[in-house]
Amino acid sequence: MKSLSADEASFSMSGREDYEAALARLREASRAYYGDGDSPVDDTVYDRLRLAVLAWEDAHPAHVARDTPTALVGDGAAPVGDVAHTTRLLSLDNVFDPAGLVTWGASLQRRLGHEPVGGFTVEPKMDGAAIAARYRAGRLEQIVTRGNGTHGEDVSHVIGTIEGLPEQLPAPATFEVRGEVLFTQQQFETANEIRAAHGAQVFANPRNGTAGTLRAKDRPYRLAMTFWAYGAVELDGVALADPAATHAEVMAAVAAAGVRTTADTPAGLHVVADLAEAQRKVDEIAALRPALPFGIDGVVIKADDPTEQAAAGFGSRFPHWAIAFKLPAVERQTVLKDVVWDVGRTGVLAPTAILEPVDIDGSTITRATLHNPADIRRRDLHLGDTVTVYKAGDIIPRVQAPLVDFRPDGAREVPLPTACPHCGGEINKEQERWRCAKGTACALPALIEYAAGRDMLDIDGLGRTYVKALIESGAVTDVADLFTLTEEQLTTASGSAKRGAKLVEQIETARSRPLNRVFCALGVLGTGRSMSRRVAAHFGTMDAIRGADAAAMQEVEGIGAEKAPVIVEQVASLAPVIDKLVAAGVNMTEPQEPKPAGDGPLAGTTVVVTGKMSGPLENTGRSEMNALIEKAGGRAGSSVNSRTTYLVCAPSANGKPSSKAVKAEELGVTVLTPEAFAALLAD
Ligand code: IVH
Repeated sequence: MKSLSADEASFSMSGREDYEAALARLREASRAYYGDGDSPVDDTVYDRLRLAVLAWEDAHPAHVARDTPTALVGDGAAPVGDVAHTTRLLSLDNVFDPAGLVTWGASLQRRLGHEPVGGFTVEPKMDGAAIAARYRAGRLEQIVTRGNGTHGEDVSHVIGTIEGLPEQLPAPATFEVRGEVLFTQQQFETANEIRAAHGAQVFANPRNGTAGTLRAKDRPYRLAMTFWAYGAVELDGVALADPAATHAEVMAAVAAAGVRTTADTPAGLHVVADLAEAQRKVDEIAALRPALPFGIDGVVIKADDPTEQAAAGFGSRFPHWAIAFKLPAVERQTVLKDVVWDVGRTGVLAPTAILEPVDIDGSTITRATLHNPADIRRRDLHLGDTVTVYKAGDIIPRVQAPLVDFRPDGAREVPLPTACPHCGGEINKEQERWRCAKGTACALPALIEYAAGRDMLDIDGLGRTYVKALIESGAVTDVADLFTLTEEQLTTASGSAKRGAKLVEQIETARSRPLNRVFCALGVLGTGRSMSRRVAAHFGTMDAIRGADAAAMQEVEGIGAEKAPVIVEQVASLAPVIDKLVAAGVNMTEPQEPKPAGDGPLAGTTVVVTGKMSGPLENTGRSEMNALIEKAGGRAGSSVNSRTTYLVCAPSANGKPSSKAVKAEELGVTVLTPEAFAALLAD
């Protein structure tokens, strides 16, 4: 079987033969979507294929295949069981843009014969599997999959493994709740760890894993999933809510009974008056997507009022009173061509996947991160594999898993390096993240350049070329050597007596930089600029840092049980370099900043800075801005999310707001000009 890349999938159908071939592809893809195996196409290609088939069928009504999957619930591909549904479990029709939503609104109005007046609900479209769960007298008795909409499979064996769908409710209610079961990102990671430990293939994505887990009855392990309800119907003639209840009220009744609903997700369930307001909520939920702990593939808009729902009615596959606003896929399939290894400035070997270019949500992805060798093996990645690649918001794309069904013959496991890819030396494999045995010395030029940088020792004029010359001449073997360089050595390296003299002056000034910058310049694993500031502020002196054990290191905010021993070990291994720095008279203390009155004007806030500063903050670099924020009691963040309080950002010169400004606007984060922020600090 061959997987289909997005580019191969151009679906212009000129004749009946093309149409039938497209139907065959659609059937194969939907079988995989609802079943256990890998899909030959990802959601984007699937949607395109489906739309092309629908367009052809529209244009050639006399030639529509009698068994076309487009006329069936779930494209007729889900395994059909023998449990009859109480009432049909339907799917949703899709729109892909605001114009589509307007068109849907017009068709709803036509069906009602008047403008809808009962309002709409807006809620996330969770990307999992639909189930119906039957409660009798408060006890969860049966779980049934959607199947073909009229009959589904009994999957009651998963009772007790689904968060949000308790086995026993506090009150003896009888009703059937309908909703989506899925793996949250966290549950997905855990599920794959458990599967890898049992020698099972890791799931390619959470949805695919959910479908497989619902069907697998005899696994030697149980995997936790989560449920959110999006509807309820009567069971044994008993209804949970008043028949006149709106959708939002039904959901509130379900929640009151003790079952989790879409309203309990961070995206929430919103009641709005009209579709213009619904569109704004769609945009808000779409903006939240990267921060949600589970996958959504759209937003669902429903007429809230039961009378209007009844008047709009149902089609054969979906209700006319609800619509899914599909969001662009954040996961695509592409081919893993190669894996390249770099050595970071701390000596860590970092793998990067080289991919067949693929478009994800508007950007072309050719590289994605991989974690470490153990993880590569856990995921059983082979070169040439079709892999799922995930990218959401600002997050760097990452490779999730191979689609083993499409592994080409003779594909070989991703080779792991046998020597340091940078210096050719030995590799330290003690931890999951492999490192060059030489540690920071491996990437010496990068490390020295980093150490001399503006936010660390700030040795103006000591750029890449001179650093390289100093290392090649043997004058610099570590950071400390910078402080014992002679004017002659600097003159030779820079090729000019004037430059040599200037560098001597600069190095002299660098000797008295605060401890946080000196510590940062050491390149200790896991200690960037912000963390170095916290470590230096916490301990005050280099001696105190050196004396800290893992427990003491964990007292620094942001250093957990995993990171602490690594930092302690690294500091110990840098003892000779630190001793040399001390001997060279480099400052080893952190100036005691007077604590701001109270907790400071930014206490309890998270501030993100972007772009050039202006006004009183002109020429203030990012690191200095972060220091200012922390001094004023705030936290410096790097990306705009729901926890961000302020975005500091100058108005854009070209009128086009930065992506961070757009995100802030979407999330309702307060945007401050550098001038306004300076005034806030002055307060
Ligand atoms: S309402 C009669 N609401 O999406 C109403 N469905 O692609 C039918 N889904 O089959 C469903 N989140 O499995 C509804 N908030 C939500 C949903 C949702 C996910 C799933 C559901 C449905 C599929 C259609």
